[in-house]
Amino acid sequence: MSGEPRLKGRRALVTGANGGLGSAISRALAAAGASVALHARVRESARELHEAILAAGGVAEIVTGDVRTAEGAGSIVAQAVEALGGLDILVNNAGIMSTVPFLDLGEDEWREVIDTNLTGYFLVGQAAAREMTAAGRGAIINVSSTRQVQCWPGSLAYASSKGGIAMLTRSMALELAPLGIRVNSIAPGTFVTGLNRSYLLDPEFMQRRIATIPVGRYGEVEEVAGAVVFLASDEAAFVVGTSIGIDGGQTLW
Ligand SMILES: NC(=O)c1ccc[n+]([C@@H]2O[C@H](COP(=O)([O-])OP(=O)(O)OC[C@H]3O[C@@H](n4cnc5c(N)ncnc54)[C@H](OP(=O)(O)O)[C@@H]3O)[C@@H](O)[C@H]2O)c1
Repeated sequence: MSGEPRLKGRRALVTGANGGLGSAISRALAAAGASVALHARVRESARELHEAILAAGGVAEIVTGDVRTAEGAGSIVAQAVEALGGLDILVNNAGIMSTVPFLDLGEDEWREVIDTNLTGYFLVGQAAAREMTAAGRGAIINVSSTRQVQCWPGSLAYASSKGGIAMLTRSMALELAPLGIRVNSIAPGTFVTGLNRSYLLDPEFMQRRIATIPVGRYGEVEEVAGAVVFLASDEAAFVVGTSIGIDGGQTLW
């Protein structure tokens, strides 16, 4: 193996790059040699991450937009292509949480979660894949969750969106593999981020949740990044349509 960084010359887009997992993934892709389009709804919220990547010698640009509409998704991908000169890697990561039980869940919240977590991945994925098709090469990594297979009371809308991502990933992988585009997902377990900080750090909740994680702790956001870099790299050239769990054993029960 040469001493070259694994993703040297590759151009990556990470949605929700300013968030907990998104920023760890973006830093790791940049450290592996990729130039990275950091997507955030509000430019300012990705500023610190952008500066940190540049200070570490990486290459990054900020792109903005909302993933929930075809217009927003198309614009995010177009900005990334314009800024980086093309697109080889997409990490679909922007997402929101919902903790409302089934009988109380309103239509608006249901739609908001599905529009962001599932439709957003479809729309950004489609726009990115159309771009990659021209080059005949690409890697798409969808950030799913243990909730794609495991539910808890109150996780209905979120789990439904992640279950959808499981089949979106497999279906995209099936149709895009012959075109040179590999699609896979990661399924993280429990990581403290803006998505869940409000309840994961509650001492009582923490004790109950950690009791379900065989390694006995929450994950550190940096622990998701290695799998993403691997899936984006040529080392994963024969890895198609799979999901890598990163959950400290949480789904073994
Ligand atoms: N944390 C965990 O334990 C965990 C576990 C499994 C899977 N995940 C998944 O990991 C991904 C990242 O979550 P996170 O934990 O890093 O949460 P986070 O820190 O809250 O980050 C979520 C990101 O998504 C962006 N976003 C939300 N709605 C959007 C929209 N309509 N358009 C564009 N961007 C939007 C947010 O932007 P703003 O800053 O503008 O709101 C933010 O950048 C999500 O898909 C989540 O489901 C997380």
